[in-house]
Amino acid sequence: MTDTRVLVTGGAGFIGSHLVDALLARGQAVRVLDDFSTGKRANLPENGRLQVIEGDVADLSLVRQAVQGCRSVVHLAAVASVQASVDDPLGTHRSNLIGTLNLCEAMRESGVRRVVFASSAAVYGNNGEGESIHEETPKAPLTPYAADKLASEHYLDFYRRQHGLEPAVFRFFNVFGPRQDPASPYSGVISIFTERARQGLPITVFGDGGQTRDFVYVADLVEVLLQALDAPELEVGAVNLGLDRATSLNQLLAAIGEVLGDLPAVTHAEARPGDIRHSRASNVRLRQRYRLPEPATSVHEGLRALLDA
Ligand code: NAD
Ligand code: UD1
Repeated sequence: MTDTRVLVTGGAGFIGSHLVDALLARGQAVRVLDDFSTGKRANLPENGRLQVIEGDVADLSLVRQAVQGCRSVVHLAAVASVQASVDDPLGTHRSNLIGTLNLCEAMRESGVRRVVFASSAAVYGNNGEGESIHEETPKAPLTPYAADKLASEHYLDFYRRQHGLEPAVFRFFNVFGPRQDPASPYSGVISIFTERARQGLPITVFGDGGQTRDFVYVADLVEVLLQALDAPELEVGAVNLGLDRATSLNQLLAAIGEVLGDLPAVTHAEARPGDIRHSRASNVRLRQRYRLPEPATSVHEGLRALLDA
């Protein structure tokens, strides 16, 4: 089954491991390239069709090896935390931009064309102004993370035009679900808040809690990524992967309180530098090109699934 093997960079991480499960469940062979910086071996199953390479996407020779014998790639390996990129721009850049460029080169050399890429809503900065953000909204990367994601999109487009790569670029909005590491302060807000609430530990909100996010449950997102791997042809241009649904952190806390039946003390701290105020996806293009699970998982349902996992 070598010719249908999918390389998943960052496959031991939160989103990657759910995608790996889905690929294995439909009978595909999978190769994971991951440096385990935030991902975990325990996120991956034992399976004869799964190969794991431990290493860095910033290492071109390793990326060349990883791409060999694969039909397509899902490129998820990155420093996923906006705040971590603010704290360490150079380290982030190695993973988030050099990693993408290495992958483009390795794919060009070996003739692998299809690549699904995890870009981010962060590329829009604050240009959404509380409205649903469509793909042509001017870009305003406010952090090293957002700058590297936007630059990665441009490199992928160069390799498409120049070398026939087939990139499916998705701007993920805020993804949540089981295996989003709750232990790291750099993790996603839902995993941090639910874990602390479960343990009765105080919760810190950066800013007034009025900031909003478009939270997407991981299983819904994975369904779209699989369609992008399978599509016979891809239309050009990045696609927002969000639900056109805004939830403020204050609403999120209320929802966690409802699902758990209780909420610990909530304190407020300074807003994070470069933090986006409102983020909500227009998903017209997504619905034109792909099928979203109908109905998509609500924040309440997703919280229940996360707490049950
Ligand atoms: P994650 O931290 O769980 O996954 C990232 C994975 O990449 C980890 O397994 C990590 O060990 C690996 N990795 C990091 N640097 C690497 C390197 N240099 N070489 C090899 N492996 C490396 O985070 P996630 O939430 O699963 O994010 C996956 C992708 O989706 C990232 O590209 C992230 O930027 C993007 N994204 C995530 C969200 C979200 O809300 N979670 C939203 C937008 C975009
Ligand atoms: C998240 C993703 C990023 C993605 C982006 C797309 C993670 C870690 N980050 O960034 O990869 O590109 O969505 O929209 O998955 N907050 C608190 N208290 C906390 C933690 C966070 O108040 O303990 C606040 C933050 O200041 C922010 C909001 O919660 O306002 C969301 O933070 P976070 O989950 O880190 O996500 P983004 O920065 O939106």
